[in-house]
Amino acid sequence: MKNLFKMLDLSKEEIIDILDLADQLKYEKKNGISHEVLKGQKIGMIFEKASTRTRISFEVGITDLGATPLFLSSSDLQIGRGEPLIDTARVLGRYLDGIMIRTFKQSTVEDLAKYSGLSVINGLTDFSHPCQVLADLMTIREFKINFDGLKLCYVGDGNNMCNSLVVGALKVGMNVAIAVPNGYEPDESILAFAKEYGDKFYMTTNPEEAVKDADVIVTDVWTSMGQESETKQREQAFKGYCLTTELLNSAHQDYIVLHCLPAHREEEITAEVFENNAKYIFEEAENRLHAQKAVMVKLFN
Ligand code: CP
Ligand code: NVA
Repeated sequence: MKNLFKMLDLSKEEIIDILDLADQLKYEKKNGISHEVLKGQKIGMIFEKASTRTRISFEVGITDLGATPLFLSSSDLQIGRGEPLIDTARVLGRYLDGIMIRTFKQSTVEDLAKYSGLSVINGLTDFSHPCQVLADLMTIREFKINFDGLKLCYVGDGNNMCNSLVVGALKVGMNVAIAVPNGYEPDESILAFAKEYGDKFYMTTNPEEAVKDADVIVTDVWTSMGQESETKQREQAFKGYCLTTELLNSAHQDYIVLHCLPAHREEEITAEVFENNAKYIFEEAENRLHAQKAVMVKLFN
């Protein structure tokens, strides 16, 4: 593994390896066992969009591993004033040992790796959010022990989270059902991938149908970063796609709800469902730290 661009690039074995290492690093951190395996390295963190969890979990994770994080906001970099990424990448390649980037286009992540010569981690693009889905899978395994035979349901926008979850969940052996409105389906490459899994993947416009007997239910915001001008139109399109207690009545009796956060109460999830599942949702947020440390150990060590 040289980079983490998207879930499609990872094999099942690589995913499980990352999750196993993440569990170990979580155990070590909780027990005060240090693991400064990246001592002396300098890791850049480029942000072209806002972030709470990704920024802080990477900054803390890099420090836990003995390396130095550099927070690089595009509004402060010359990128923000038009310096081409391929020039910035060639400069960063001479200063740093690895890079995490949150940006818009998927190709930006891949260009950054190509021109810097460094290992690059995708910290969210419009297309994918692999770090989040690795943390989600870690959380599911923590609470459900095994992936086999579980049903994961995603209700909402066929966005970066949906794209990555469908791939990650299918790869580790879960059944996946998604409920998305017409016109808001996942990327075509994701649907083509999912098709290979036959009836293990199901897509509908009907949330009730998708939620039925689900063990894990996931949702995300209706308007992602960069889509703010579509907010009103999206509020209309996603009416009926809110995770309510009533909707979840037909899920498996031991269901858990995950949300990558930030959450918009009474939009994609009610305050009641959110609070009833806070135990899982905040463990999921914590697991960003452990999962990303595992990825960094694999890529930068
Ligand atoms: N879930 C997630 O990526 O959160 P941030 O946008 O706060 O980083
Ligand atoms: N789909 C959301 C995820 C935020 C973590 C977005 O891209 O804004």
